[in-house]
Amino acid sequence: MKTNLSLSTPAEVETECLVVVALDQSEKDRNEKDRTEKNRGEKDKPQVTLGTNDPALRDAAAEVIASGEVTGKMFESTLLHHPVKLKAKRLLLIGGGKAKSFSAFDLRRLAGTAVRTLKSRGLRSFAFVAPETGAKAEEAVKAIVEGAFVGNFDPDTYKSDRKDQVIDALTVVARGDQAKLQEAMNEAGILGESQNFTRDLVNEPSNRMTPTILAERARKIAAEVGLKCEVHGADKIRELKMGAFWSVAQGSDEPPALIVLRYEPAGAPEKPVLGLVGKGVTFDTGGISIKPSDGMEKMKYDMAGGATMIGAMRAIALLKPKVKVTAIICATENMPSGKAQKPGDVQIAMSGKSIEIINTDAEGRLVLADGLHYARQLGCTHLIDAATLTGAVVVALGYTNAGIFANDDQMYERFNKASAKAGEKMWRMPLDDEYKDQIKSNIADIMNTGGRYGGAITAAMFLKEFAEDTPWLHLDIAGTAWMEDNKPWIAKGPSGIAVRSLVEFAKDFAA
Ligand code: BES
Ligand code: MN
Ligand code: ZN
Repeated sequence: MKTNLSLSTPAEVETECLVVVALDQSEKDRNEKDRTEKNRGEKDKPQVTLGTNDPALRDAAAEVIASGEVTGKMFESTLLHHPVKLKAKRLLLIGGGKAKSFSAFDLRRLAGTAVRTLKSRGLRSFAFVAPETGAKAEEAVKAIVEGAFVGNFDPDTYKSDRKDQVIDALTVVARGDQAKLQEAMNEAGILGESQNFTRDLVNEPSNRMTPTILAERARKIAAEVGLKCEVHGADKIRELKMGAFWSVAQGSDEPPALIVLRYEPAGAPEKPVLGLVGKGVTFDTGGISIKPSDGMEKMKYDMAGGATMIGAMRAIALLKPKVKVTAIICATENMPSGKAQKPGDVQIAMSGKSIEIINTDAEGRLVLADGLHYARQLGCTHLIDAATLTGAVVVALGYTNAGIFANDDQMYERFNKASAKAGEKMWRMPLDDEYKDQIKSNIADIMNTGGRYGGAITAAMFLKEFAEDTPWLHLDIAGTAWMEDNKPWIAKGPSGIAVRSLVEFAKDFAA
């Protein structure tokens, strides 16, 4: 999708469709109003205002607003043809909810909604008028472009009647400092494309996204954007004594891949070095502790953490923050076979810690244990891992928030700012020492599961043992990396969660 900035007045923009946000200015919420329906006077009618105070736009929308058909409710879409006094062929009014609480977060979703609404009608281009409420002009432009990229992704790659309905060109109409607006637009385009790059990887089924193929995709994008890339196979994994990673990989006929991407910009200080470690399990059957067949097909997205790191590295390489970043993706299948590890086996991780395997389905923490240790060995001073690690995080936080865990409050605070900027919801979970008792083993230093309760936390406690004293964040994206349903702003399927937050964090980390 091409993006361009327009500083003209909305009425002058020639486009297939001009999109304008309609906001509800009334104070009371809808339920309150409904209760007093009987004595509803003129005053209580929804007071709809447009996000922009442009006289021609106001005139064009006046009649439909006066009719009461437009309420400003979130995602409500009203499409007019031949709007009066506008050069645009169509006018789409899109509801943004209460004016008072309207934010860049909402705007991002409205842009996605506009894309999904208009592409399904066969339109190829449109112009979005940046609202002057709720966000600074640059922030608004950025949110619109990011949201539009999110909305433009469809997962129907292998449908033979794929309609390829996509938006090819987006114009954002805004007022402000042209250079700053243009910069926001370029940055948002890189973020949006990188997020969709990740979603493309995650969307592939496991027969088309083996560890080898994932490594090839990483190598290809690295060459395109100027990152160093190394891919190591089984021999090197064993030579590095990655006993935890190998214990998962040994059960599969498909060779594993240890993918290392390096971003080392000229002029960056020696330290800090940010390490991004991703779980790249291209298919998780559970291994000998095999999963039930119902829903197992979803385990093709168990490499989402790895894909997230590759997408984030793509954006970082293009945005060029002055800080070193190294990404490590541990890619393997988790299969049952005659060579597969068994419950009760004891494995020695790269760090030297011994691990009793209780459940071979708790494989993500095993591959990450060695990934985290290797990142420290390569000189990373700060670590972030991302993984579809536990079903328990879905129980705790549902599909709305990713779980975030930290052994360092300051690093957490910085990430929290970055994820707010990116508009990605994450909720911090605890890591008290008490939880460690749950992963004590009789025979080894630690075991790979911690019983029924607090499963997302005990998984994180396991990883914490391998981050040791390095400041570290863990993102459990099991509930958020895959959208279970279509939403107005995003298609069902891979979400690309955390790519934008990681990039915002890296940018802030460099500053
Ligand atoms: N990949 C799964 C976690 C997962 C579950 C991701 C649902 C996405 C959706 C992970 O490897 C796993 O199997 N975890 C087990 C751990 C248990 C055996 C301690 C789980 O959550 O059940
Ligand atoms: Mn598993
Ligand atoms: Zn898994």
